Amino acid sequence: MIDLTYCRAQFPALQLQVAGRSAVFFDGPGGTQVPRNVLDAITGYLVHSNANAGGRFHTSRLSDERLAGARQAASDLLGCSSREVAFGANMTTLTYALSRAIARDLAPGDELIVTDLDHQANICPWTVLEEQGLVVHRVPFAAPECVLDYRALEGKLSKRTKVIAFGLASNAVGTVNDAARVVAMARSVGALTVADGVHYVPHFPVDVKALGVDFLLCSAYKFFGPHVGLMYGREEAFAKLRTYRLRPQHREIPFRLETGTLNHEGMAGTEAAVDFIAGLSPVAGDRRQRVGAGMTAIEAWERPLATRLIEGLNQLPGVTVYGPPARAMRAPTVSFAVKGRQAGQVASRLGELGFFVWAGDFYASTLVDVLGLRERGGLIRVGFAPYNTPKEVEEFLQALSTVIL
Ligand SMILES: Cc1ncc(COP(=O)(O)O)c(C=O)c1O
Repeated sequence: MIDLTYCRAQFPALQLQVAGRSAVFFDGPGGTQVPRNVLDAITGYLVHSNANAGGRFHTSRLSDERLAGARQAASDLLGCSSREVAFGANMTTLTYALSRAIARDLAPGDELIVTDLDHQANICPWTVLEEQGLVVHRVPFAAPECVLDYRALEGKLSKRTKVIAFGLASNAVGTVNDAARVVAMARSVGALTVADGVHYVPHFPVDVKALGVDFLLCSAYKFFGPHVGLMYGREEAFAKLRTYRLRPQHREIPFRLETGTLNHEGMAGTEAAVDFIAGLSPVAGDRRQRVGAGMTAIEAWERPLATRLIEGLNQLPGVTVYGPPARAMRAPTVSFAVKGRQAGQVASRLGELGFFVWAGDFYASTLVDVLGLRERGGLIRVGFAPYNTPKEVEEFLQALSTVIL
Protein backbone atom coordinates (compact mmCIF):
# COMPACT_ATOMS: atom_id res chain seq x y z
CA MET A 1 0.00 0.00 0.00
CA ILE A 2 1.01 3.59 -0.57
CA ASP A 3 2.02 5.71 2.41
CA LEU A 4 -0.28 8.55 1.41
CA THR A 5 1.18 11.17 3.74
CA TYR A 6 4.71 10.48 2.50
CA CYS A 7 3.56 10.32 -1.12
CA ARG A 8 1.61 13.60 -1.11
CA ALA A 9 4.40 15.41 0.73
CA GLN A 10 6.69 14.75 -2.26
CA PHE A 11 4.58 16.86 -4.64
CA PRO A 12 4.86 20.64 -4.11
CA ALA A 13 2.09 21.23 -6.69
CA LEU A 14 -0.47 19.69 -4.34
CA GLN A 15 -0.25 22.82 -2.18
CA LEU A 16 -2.31 24.72 -4.74
CA GLN A 17 -5.56 26.17 -3.41
CA VAL A 18 -8.50 26.78 -5.75
CA ALA A 19 -11.94 27.98 -4.71
CA GLY A 20 -11.01 27.70 -1.05
CA ARG A 21 -9.88 24.08 -1.22
CA SER A 22 -6.80 22.03 -2.10
CA ALA A 23 -6.80 21.50 -5.84
CA VAL A 24 -7.73 17.97 -6.89
CA PHE A 25 -5.46 16.75 -9.66
CA PHE A 26 -7.48 14.21 -11.62
CA ASP A 27 -5.61 15.12 -14.81
CA GLY A 28 -2.87 12.47 -14.52
CA PRO A 29 -3.53 10.87 -17.95
CA GLY A 30 -2.54 14.21 -19.50
CA GLY A 31 0.59 14.33 -17.33
CA THR A 32 1.13 13.71 -13.62
CA GLN A 33 2.48 16.14 -11.07
CA VAL A 34 6.21 16.03 -10.36
CA PRO A 35 7.85 15.04 -7.06
CA ARG A 36 10.59 17.04 -5.40
CA ASN A 37 13.40 14.57 -6.20
CA VAL A 38 12.62 14.94 -9.92
CA LEU A 39 12.65 18.75 -9.65
CA ASP A 40 15.97 18.53 -7.79
CA ALA A 41 17.46 16.18 -10.40
CA ILE A 42 16.54 18.55 -13.23
CA THR A 43 17.99 21.62 -11.54
CA GLY A 44 20.91 19.58 -10.20
CA TYR A 45 21.80 18.49 -13.72
CA LEU A 46 21.71 22.07 -14.99
CA VAL A 47 23.74 23.43 -12.08
CA HIS A 48 26.42 20.73 -11.75
CA SER A 49 26.76 18.85 -15.02
CA ASN A 50 25.38 20.94 -17.83
CA ALA A 51 27.49 20.07 -20.87
CA ASN A 52 27.22 18.37 -24.20
CA ALA A 53 28.02 14.69 -24.46
CA GLY A 54 31.44 13.13 -25.01
CA GLY A 55 33.70 15.98 -23.86
CA ARG A 56 37.09 15.51 -22.16
CA PHE A 57 36.31 17.64 -19.14
CA HIS A 58 34.59 17.38 -15.78
CA THR A 59 31.02 18.52 -16.51
CA SER A 60 30.78 16.57 -19.75
CA ARG A 61 31.91 13.40 -17.98
CA LEU A 62 29.31 13.99 -15.28
CA SER A 63 26.72 14.62 -17.97
CA ASP A 64 27.58 11.34 -19.71
CA GLU A 65 27.19 9.55 -16.38
CA ARG A 66 23.73 11.07 -15.93
CA LEU A 67 22.64 10.01 -19.42
CA ALA A 68 23.88 6.47 -18.82
CA GLY A 69 22.09 6.53 -15.46
CA ALA A 70 18.84 7.50 -17.16
CA ARG A 71 19.09 4.57 -19.60
CA GLN A 72 19.80 2.23 -16.72
CA ALA A 73 16.79 3.57 -14.79
CA ALA A 74 14.51 3.19 -17.81
CA SER A 75 15.72 -0.37 -18.29
CA ASP A 76 14.92 -1.07 -14.61
CA LEU A 77 11.44 0.33 -15.18
CA LEU A 78 10.75 -1.74 -18.28
CA GLY A 79 12.77 -4.89 -17.61
CA CYS A 80 15.29 -4.78 -20.44
CA SER A 81 18.92 -3.94 -21.14
CA SER A 82 19.96 -0.28 -21.15
CA ARG A 83 21.10 -0.85 -24.78
CA GLU A 84 17.44 -1.33 -25.65
CA VAL A 85 16.20 2.10 -24.48
CA ALA A 86 16.24 5.17 -26.73
CA PHE A 87 15.20 8.65 -25.63
CA GLY A 88 13.45 11.32 -27.69
CA ALA A 89 11.22 14.37 -27.59
CA ASN A 90 8.04 12.44 -26.83
CA MET A 91 6.28 9.20 -27.75
CA THR A 92 4.74 10.65 -30.91
CA THR A 93 8.05 11.80 -32.39
CA LEU A 94 9.72 8.49 -31.58
CA THR A 95 6.85 6.55 -33.15
CA TYR A 96 7.16 8.56 -36.37
CA ALA A 97 10.91 7.83 -36.45
CA LEU A 98 10.17 4.15 -35.85
CA SER A 99 7.46 3.89 -38.51
CA ARG A 100 9.64 5.62 -41.10
CA ALA A 101 12.53 3.29 -40.32
CA ILE A 102 10.40 0.14 -40.51
CA ALA A 103 8.77 1.33 -43.73
CA ARG A 104 12.13 1.53 -45.51
CA ASP A 105 12.17 -2.24 -45.56
CA LEU A 106 8.54 -2.73 -46.62
CA ALA A 107 7.15 -3.05 -50.13
CA PRO A 108 3.90 -1.73 -51.64
CA GLY A 109 1.09 -4.10 -50.74
CA ASP A 110 2.62 -5.00 -47.36
CA GLU A 111 0.07 -4.66 -44.56
CA LEU A 112 -0.09 -2.95 -41.17
CA ILE A 113 -2.76 -3.16 -38.47
CA VAL A 114 -3.87 -0.36 -36.12
CA THR A 115 -6.82 -0.15 -33.72
CA ASP A 116 -9.76 2.23 -33.33
CA LEU A 117 -9.19 2.30 -29.57
CA ASP A 118 -5.81 3.93 -29.80
CA HIS A 119 -4.42 7.41 -29.34
CA GLN A 120 -3.67 8.93 -32.77
CA ALA A 121 0.06 8.78 -31.93
CA ASN A 122 -0.03 5.05 -32.60
CA ILE A 123 -2.30 5.39 -35.65
CA CYS A 124 -1.13 8.31 -37.81
CA PRO A 125 2.57 7.29 -37.97
CA TRP A 126 1.28 4.08 -39.60
CA THR A 127 -1.56 5.42 -41.76
CA VAL A 128 0.82 7.96 -43.39
CA LEU A 129 2.57 4.95 -44.89
CA GLU A 130 -0.44 4.45 -47.17
CA GLU A 131 1.28 7.16 -49.26
CA GLN A 132 3.93 4.62 -50.18
CA GLY A 133 1.48 1.88 -51.12
CA LEU A 134 1.25 0.08 -47.78
CA VAL A 135 -2.18 -1.19 -46.75
CA VAL A 136 -3.42 -0.25 -43.26
CA HIS A 137 -6.22 -2.26 -41.61
CA ARG A 138 -8.17 -0.89 -38.67
CA VAL A 139 -9.47 -3.10 -35.84
CA PRO A 140 -12.80 -2.02 -34.31
CA PHE A 141 -13.90 -2.32 -30.68
CA ALA A 142 -17.22 -3.09 -29.01
CA ALA A 143 -18.93 -0.07 -27.38
CA PRO A 144 -19.75 0.97 -24.68
CA GLU A 145 -17.26 -1.26 -22.83
CA CYS A 146 -14.63 -0.45 -25.44
CA VAL A 147 -13.05 -3.89 -25.69
CA LEU A 148 -10.97 -4.65 -28.75
CA ASP A 149 -12.52 -7.05 -31.27
CA TYR A 150 -9.82 -9.74 -31.25
CA ARG A 151 -11.67 -11.88 -33.79
CA ALA A 152 -11.69 -8.98 -36.22
CA LEU A 153 -7.97 -8.54 -35.56
CA GLU A 154 -7.35 -12.19 -36.30
CA GLY A 155 -9.37 -11.87 -39.49
CA LYS A 156 -7.09 -9.10 -40.73
CA LEU A 157 -3.88 -11.13 -40.40
CA SER A 158 -2.20 -12.27 -43.58
CA LYS A 159 1.20 -13.37 -44.81
CA ARG A 160 1.80 -9.75 -45.71
CA THR A 161 1.11 -8.36 -42.22
CA LYS A 162 4.33 -6.66 -41.13
CA VAL A 163 3.32 -4.61 -38.07
CA ILE A 164 0.56 -4.67 -35.48
CA ALA A 165 0.48 -1.31 -33.67
CA PHE A 166 -1.71 -1.40 -30.57
CA GLY A 167 -2.06 0.22 -27.17
CA LEU A 168 -1.46 -1.58 -23.90
CA ALA A 169 -4.08 0.63 -22.21
CA SER A 170 -6.53 3.22 -23.50
CA ASN A 171 -5.87 6.76 -22.29
CA ALA A 172 -9.51 7.60 -23.03
CA VAL A 173 -11.51 4.88 -21.30
CA GLY A 174 -9.03 2.70 -19.40
CA THR A 175 -9.32 -0.52 -21.43
CA VAL A 176 -6.34 -2.82 -20.90
CA ASN A 177 -5.70 -4.86 -24.01
CA ASP A 178 -4.68 -8.51 -24.04
CA ALA A 179 -1.10 -7.99 -25.16
CA ALA A 180 -0.22 -11.70 -25.00
CA ARG A 181 -3.00 -12.47 -27.45
CA VAL A 182 -1.95 -9.71 -29.85
CA VAL A 183 1.72 -10.74 -29.67
CA ALA A 184 0.81 -14.39 -30.36
CA MET A 185 -1.20 -13.32 -33.42
CA ALA A 186 1.66 -11.17 -34.69
CA ARG A 187 4.16 -13.98 -34.23
CA SER A 188 1.93 -16.42 -36.12
CA VAL A 189 2.51 -14.34 -39.26
CA GLY A 190 5.99 -13.02 -38.45
CA ALA A 191 4.83 -9.42 -37.87
CA LEU A 192 6.42 -6.91 -35.50
CA THR A 193 4.45 -5.55 -32.53
CA VAL A 194 4.62 -1.87 -31.60
CA ALA A 195 2.95 -1.27 -28.23
CA ASP A 196 1.90 2.16 -27.03
CA GLY A 197 2.66 1.95 -23.32
CA VAL A 198 2.06 5.62 -22.52
CA HIS A 199 -1.07 4.97 -20.51
CA TYR A 200 -0.07 1.54 -19.17
CA VAL A 201 3.42 2.17 -17.81
CA PRO A 202 2.27 4.71 -15.14
CA HIS A 203 -0.22 2.24 -13.64
CA PHE A 204 1.18 -1.30 -13.80
CA PRO A 205 4.49 -3.14 -13.34
CA VAL A 206 6.02 -3.73 -16.77
CA ASP A 207 8.20 -6.57 -18.02
CA VAL A 208 8.77 -6.07 -21.73
CA LYS A 209 10.38 -9.49 -22.06
CA ALA A 210 7.31 -11.19 -20.58
CA LEU A 211 5.03 -9.07 -22.76
CA GLY A 212 7.03 -10.18 -25.78
CA VAL A 213 6.50 -6.99 -27.78
CA ASP A 214 9.18 -5.85 -30.22
CA PHE A 215 8.84 -2.15 -29.48
CA LEU A 216 7.20 -0.28 -26.61
CA LEU A 217 6.93 3.48 -26.32
CA CYS A 218 6.10 5.61 -23.31
CA SER A 219 6.47 9.12 -21.90
CA ALA A 220 8.13 10.11 -18.63
CA TYR A 221 5.74 13.02 -18.03
CA LYS A 222 2.95 10.50 -17.46
CA PHE A 223 4.90 8.83 -14.62
CA PHE A 224 6.09 11.79 -12.53
CA GLY A 225 8.93 12.79 -14.84
CA PRO A 226 9.60 15.62 -17.28
CA HIS A 227 8.48 15.90 -20.92
CA VAL A 228 10.63 13.17 -22.47
CA GLY A 229 9.73 10.13 -24.58
CA LEU A 230 11.28 6.65 -24.38
CA MET A 231 11.36 3.67 -26.68
CA TYR A 232 12.20 0.08 -25.82
CA GLY A 233 13.36 -1.91 -28.83
CA ARG A 234 14.01 -5.65 -28.54
CA GLU A 235 17.70 -5.90 -29.36
CA GLU A 236 17.41 -8.06 -32.49
CA ALA A 237 14.53 -6.01 -33.92
CA PHE A 238 16.10 -2.66 -32.96
CA ALA A 239 19.47 -3.58 -34.49
CA LYS A 240 17.79 -4.30 -37.83
CA LEU A 241 16.06 -0.90 -38.04
CA ARG A 242 17.41 1.27 -40.82
CA THR A 243 16.78 4.55 -39.05
CA TYR A 244 17.32 7.93 -40.71
CA ARG A 245 20.62 9.08 -39.23
CA LEU A 246 23.06 11.95 -39.56
CA ARG A 247 26.47 10.92 -40.91
CA PRO A 248 28.38 11.27 -37.58
CA GLN A 249 25.61 9.63 -35.57
CA HIS A 250 26.34 6.28 -33.87
CA ARG A 251 25.09 3.25 -35.77
CA GLU A 252 24.78 1.15 -32.62
CA ILE A 253 21.59 0.71 -30.67
CA PRO A 254 20.08 2.61 -28.94
CA PHE A 255 21.77 5.69 -30.44
CA ARG A 256 20.76 4.95 -34.02
CA LEU A 257 17.24 6.27 -33.33
CA GLU A 258 18.34 9.41 -31.46
CA THR A 259 18.88 12.47 -33.63
CA GLY A 260 20.54 15.62 -32.32
CA THR A 261 21.25 16.56 -28.72
CA LEU A 262 18.97 14.85 -26.25
CA ASN A 263 17.04 16.47 -23.42
CA HIS A 264 19.77 15.89 -20.83
CA GLU A 265 17.99 17.48 -17.90
CA GLY A 266 14.85 15.60 -18.90
CA MET A 267 16.77 12.33 -18.86
CA ALA A 268 18.18 13.17 -15.41
CA GLY A 269 14.60 13.84 -14.29
CA THR A 270 13.49 10.51 -15.77
CA GLU A 271 15.99 8.62 -13.65
CA ALA A 272 14.67 10.44 -10.60
CA ALA A 273 11.07 9.57 -11.56
CA VAL A 274 12.02 5.88 -11.63
CA ASP A 275 13.70 6.33 -8.23
CA PHE A 276 10.52 7.95 -6.93
CA ILE A 277 8.49 4.87 -7.96
CA ALA A 278 11.12 2.57 -6.42
CA GLY A 279 10.83 4.65 -3.24
CA LEU A 280 7.15 3.68 -2.92
CA SER A 281 8.15 0.03 -2.60
CA PRO A 282 7.36 -1.49 0.78
CA VAL A 283 10.19 -4.02 0.32
CA ALA A 284 13.96 -3.83 -0.10
CA GLY A 285 15.85 -5.12 -3.13
CA ASP A 286 17.63 -3.87 -6.21
CA ARG A 287 16.02 -1.03 -8.14
CA ARG A 288 14.30 -3.30 -10.67
CA GLN A 289 12.66 -5.22 -7.81
CA ARG A 290 11.69 -2.07 -5.96
CA VAL A 291 10.25 -0.44 -9.08
CA GLY A 292 8.10 -3.53 -9.61
CA ALA A 293 6.91 -3.47 -6.00
CA GLY A 294 6.36 0.32 -6.21
CA MET A 295 4.20 -0.10 -9.32
CA THR A 296 2.26 -2.90 -7.65
CA ALA A 297 1.60 -0.57 -4.71
CA ILE A 298 0.45 2.17 -7.12
CA GLU A 299 -1.89 -0.25 -8.88
CA ALA A 300 -3.33 -1.42 -5.57
CA TRP A 301 -3.91 2.17 -4.46
CA GLU A 302 -5.47 3.46 -7.67
CA ARG A 303 -7.76 0.53 -8.47
CA PRO A 304 -10.26 1.04 -5.58
CA LEU A 305 -10.42 4.77 -6.37
CA ALA A 306 -11.54 3.94 -9.91
CA THR A 307 -13.95 1.23 -8.73
CA ARG A 308 -15.62 3.58 -6.27
CA LEU A 309 -15.81 6.38 -8.83
CA ILE A 310 -17.46 4.16 -11.46
CA GLU A 311 -19.96 2.84 -8.93
CA GLY A 312 -20.74 6.39 -7.76
CA LEU A 313 -21.09 7.72 -11.32
CA ASN A 314 -23.47 4.88 -12.16
CA GLN A 315 -25.80 6.20 -9.44
CA LEU A 316 -26.00 9.70 -10.90
CA PRO A 317 -28.94 10.40 -13.22
CA GLY A 318 -28.01 11.24 -16.81
CA VAL A 319 -24.41 10.02 -16.45
CA THR A 320 -23.12 7.28 -18.78
CA VAL A 321 -19.75 5.71 -18.04
CA TYR A 322 -17.79 4.30 -21.01
CA GLY A 323 -15.08 1.66 -20.88
CA PRO A 324 -14.70 -1.64 -19.02
CA PRO A 325 -16.83 -2.21 -15.90
CA ALA A 326 -15.59 -1.29 -12.44
CA ARG A 327 -14.20 -4.69 -11.49
CA ALA A 328 -12.68 -5.64 -14.83
CA MET A 329 -8.91 -5.53 -15.44
CA ARG A 330 -8.68 -1.85 -16.39
CA ALA A 331 -6.58 1.24 -15.94
CA PRO A 332 -7.74 3.71 -13.26
CA THR A 333 -9.03 6.14 -15.86
CA VAL A 334 -12.75 6.74 -15.90
CA SER A 335 -14.62 8.58 -18.62
CA PHE A 336 -18.24 9.54 -18.86
CA ALA A 337 -20.76 11.77 -20.58
CA VAL A 338 -23.68 13.70 -19.10
CA LYS A 339 -27.00 13.77 -20.91
CA GLY A 340 -27.80 17.18 -22.37
CA ARG A 341 -24.42 18.65 -21.38
CA GLN A 342 -21.28 19.56 -23.31
CA ALA A 343 -18.25 17.81 -21.84
CA GLY A 344 -16.22 21.05 -21.86
CA GLN A 345 -18.87 22.91 -19.88
CA VAL A 346 -18.93 20.27 -17.17
CA ALA A 347 -15.11 20.22 -16.97
CA SER A 348 -14.97 24.05 -16.76
CA ARG A 349 -17.42 24.15 -13.90
CA LEU A 350 -15.57 21.38 -12.07
CA GLY A 351 -12.30 23.25 -12.68
CA GLU A 352 -13.77 26.36 -11.04
CA LEU A 353 -14.61 24.22 -8.02
CA GLY A 354 -11.00 22.94 -7.84
CA PHE A 355 -11.39 19.56 -9.60
CA PHE A 356 -9.03 19.30 -12.57
CA VAL A 357 -10.40 16.92 -15.19
CA TRP A 358 -10.02 16.77 -18.94
CA ALA A 359 -12.79 16.94 -21.52
CA GLY A 360 -12.58 16.05 -25.21
CA ASP A 361 -11.21 13.12 -27.16
CA PHE A 362 -7.66 13.11 -25.74
CA TYR A 363 -6.47 12.29 -29.28
CA ALA A 364 -8.34 8.97 -29.10
CA SER A 365 -10.35 10.59 -31.87
CA THR A 366 -11.77 7.50 -33.57
CA LEU A 367 -13.01 6.15 -30.26
CA VAL A 368 -15.00 9.31 -29.53
CA ASP A 369 -16.44 9.28 -33.07
CA VAL A 370 -17.50 5.63 -32.73
CA LEU A 371 -19.14 6.37 -29.36
CA GLY A 372 -21.10 9.14 -31.11
CA LEU A 373 -19.95 11.78 -28.62
CA ARG A 374 -18.31 14.27 -30.99
CA GLU A 375 -21.31 16.65 -30.94
CA ARG A 376 -21.33 16.65 -27.15
CA GLY A 377 -17.67 17.60 -26.95
CA GLY A 378 -16.43 14.08 -26.24
CA LEU A 379 -15.86 12.55 -22.83
CA ILE A 380 -15.16 13.92 -19.37
CA ARG A 381 -12.11 12.06 -18.04
CA VAL A 382 -10.97 11.45 -14.47
CA GLY A 383 -7.56 9.86 -14.10
CA PHE A 384 -5.92 8.72 -10.89
CA ALA A 385 -2.38 8.95 -9.59
CA PRO A 386 -1.02 7.66 -6.26
CA TYR A 387 -1.40 11.11 -4.69
CA ASN A 388 -5.20 11.02 -5.14
CA THR A 389 -7.37 10.00 -2.19
CA PRO A 390 -10.71 8.29 -1.45
CA LYS A 391 -11.86 11.58 0.11
CA GLU A 392 -11.21 13.41 -3.16
CA VAL A 393 -13.34 10.85 -4.98
CA GLU A 394 -16.28 11.36 -2.59
CA GLU A 395 -15.97 15.15 -2.85
CA PHE A 396 -15.81 14.89 -6.63
CA LEU A 397 -19.01 12.83 -6.79
CA GLN A 398 -20.69 15.38 -4.54
CA ALA A 399 -19.48 18.31 -6.65
CA LEU A 400 -20.48 16.62 -9.91
CA SER A 401 -23.97 15.91 -8.64
CA THR A 402 -24.47 19.65 -8.02
CA VAL A 403 -22.89 20.64 -11.37
CA ILE A 404 -25.24 18.42 -13.37
CA LEU A 405 -28.42 19.15 -11.38
C1 LIG B 1 -2.03 6.52 -24.82
C2 LIG B 1 -1.20 7.65 -25.33
N1 LIG B 1 -0.39 7.43 -26.37
C3 LIG B 1 0.40 8.39 -26.87
C4 LIG B 1 0.40 9.66 -26.35
C5 LIG B 1 1.31 10.68 -26.93
O1 LIG B 1 2.39 10.84 -26.08
P1 LIG B 1 3.43 12.04 -26.28
O2 LIG B 1 2.76 13.27 -25.78
O3 LIG B 1 4.61 11.64 -25.47
O4 LIG B 1 3.75 12.11 -27.73
C6 LIG B 1 -0.44 9.94 -25.26
C7 LIG B 1 -0.50 11.31 -24.71
O5 LIG B 1 -1.43 11.68 -24.06
C8 LIG B 1 -1.25 8.92 -24.74
O6 LIG B 1 -2.05 9.13 -23.70
